[in-house]
Amino acid sequence: MAGTPEFAPQALQALNGLRFSTATAAFQIEGARTLDGRGRSIWDDFVDVPGNVLDSSAADPGPDSYHRSAEDAALLAGLGADRYRFSISWVRIIPDGQRSTKPNAAGLDYYDRVVDELLAAGVTPEPTLYHWDLPTELEVAGGWLNRDTVHRFGEYVEAVANRLGDRVRHWYTINEPASTSLQGYALGELAPGHTMLFDALPTVHHQLLAHGTAATILREHGAQQVAPAINHSLILPETDEDADHRAATTLDLIFNRFFADPLLLGEYPDLEALGVQMPIRDGDMELISTPCDVYGFNYYNPTTVRSVDEGPLPFDMVPTPGAATTGFGPLWPIRPDTLRDFLIDMRTRYGSSLPPIVISENGASFPEPEECTEPIRDDERIAYLHDHLLALTEAIAAGVPIAGYTVWSLLDNFEWADGYTQRFGLVHVNMTTGQRTPKSSYEWYRNLIAAVRA
Ligand code: BGC
Repeated sequence: MAGTPEFAPQALQALNGLRFSTATAAFQIEGARTLDGRGRSIWDDFVDVPGNVLDSSAADPGPDSYHRSAEDAALLAGLGADRYRFSISWVRIIPDGQRSTKPNAAGLDYYDRVVDELLAAGVTPEPTLYHWDLPTELEVAGGWLNRDTVHRFGEYVEAVANRLGDRVRHWYTINEPASTSLQGYALGELAPGHTMLFDALPTVHHQLLAHGTAATILREHGAQQVAPAINHSLILPETDEDADHRAATTLDLIFNRFFADPLLLGEYPDLEALGVQMPIRDGDMELISTPCDVYGFNYYNPTTVRSVDEGPLPFDMVPTPGAATTGFGPLWPIRPDTLRDFLIDMRTRYGSSLPPIVISENGASFPEPEECTEPIRDDERIAYLHDHLLALTEAIAAGVPIAGYTVWSLLDNFEWADGYTQRFGLVHVNMTTGQRTPKSSYEWYRNLIAAVRA
């Protein structure tokens, strides 16, 4: 197998039942932000504010997949990937997000073409309907704080399903609602850049409702697999002190259980201690917990917390002692064992309510050059992916149902507030020319998929 390290035969066998995929998202790869009637989203607004994006880049052209989707499909075919998780841009379909707007034909045509290119390449398309690019007009009206956004989302989903539902059977609804609520509305690190702290929490409920609404619509259009993509992190106390354990329990509640409990159990965890009230109406919890075919699970790293007495939050996030780190530095520790432990905890906590899990994102960025003349040797990425897949085999051996694995990302792309400074791709992209050059991790993943299937 190209690159190191390799897998033992038992590990390959444990991975045999999995579907292998890679993922991207519209705003991160498409470019063409002003073409063919595309409207504006909160990310167009965010990148326009000087200082919001580390390298002042603005996601255009970047990988330019709007013009290069056929190349992407060929790369996926070359990989032998079973599936491709990409996202549909809401504002290409309903440019101003409003009910009265007729769907934008050019936007629908683009995704129609992407789907056909993937199918022709033998790759199952798995679009995500919401990967953070909320129409600006809806944000002006309150965004995910406003329940009306759920209805607008339903109309957009209907338009997409009408056009693609004859060929697309697998869907992701919403991506990482925790990132949107916590980093987008509570802490201001991502669009829309609000710093509302605990007042942001109704955005959780509305995004989960959007998931349930989309799932219902997609089923009516013949969907076979519908899932949310939920990001989780094992929360570790920095020390054995009671206060750090309490801080870890609080963050686990906010970051993990706040999303998984309503989706899988139909109820929120006890939020009284946080003084939080969710805007729940009759029927909401049933809609949110509509059974999912699989549970999409994004995992990158654990989070270590220290209790603090003062400040807006009762904890600080601190480096994880003894862990190596990715290109993001100390707060992105590499601890594959925590993926295994989190999965086993989930199985214990949710039991038969837990459907098979698909790892819908896993990957890492490391410092890599903007230009490359020959394939980049990204041994650190290979080791990261290898070790997380091995951790997955341990979770499988412990009885956790795992149905698939997805590398984030197929391509180097626009890493949100970090612009082009963090590269996650199996394929290097020159952001000026769009030139794609597979890295050694691409070859490694291809060989792994082939070895699992052999
Ligand atoms: C997101 C991706 C992002 C990746 C790496 C996830 O939080 O879904 O859009 O690029 O992690 O940060």
